[in-house]
Amino acid sequence: MAFKKLAIGNDHTAVGMKNEIMAYLLEKGYEIINVGTDSTESFNYPISGYKVARLVADGEVDGGILICGTGVGISLAANKVKGIRCVTCSEPYSARLSRQHNNSNIVAFGARVIGVETAKDIVDNWLGAEYEGGRHQARVDMLAEIEETQKLAAAEE
Ligand code: RB5
Repeated sequence: MAFKKLAIGNDHTAVGMKNEIMAYLLEKGYEIINVGTDSTESFNYPISGYKVARLVADGEVDGGILICGTGVGISLAANKVKGIRCVTCSEPYSARLSRQHNNSNIVAFGARVIGVETAKDIVDNWLGAEYEGGRHQARVDMLAEIEETQKLAAAEE
């Protein structure tokens, strides 16, 4: 498997789903660092989004999983960290393609949007796919260029 060591994070809406996904992945032999909340008390999702993103960007883990109510807010937080390509998915096809084409390094989903079986399917597809490079690399490089310079040379041609 390409990703062996993962970080997982969540807010108060997703404690149950986080625990189910963690148990599922531990059973499969993945190593997991849980930086999310384990309480159902209101919790600000940017904290978990940032913590998981930091671990991924620093190379402490191979990839990350983020869960909030919709998967949206927590992915926005993660994507503010340099080097992060976090995708919010509600179905497995996008999760798989986000690895193959976009070299996503964090996957996010919403505990209020999908059920746990779909979440497992998303995670399986995401973890099972490899980045294909090739023609996709120039586009992923453009994402980094925007991040680095706040400009995109190709858009000015
Ligand atoms: C919390 O109510 C909710 O806003 C959060 O879980 C998430 O859906 C934000 O994007």
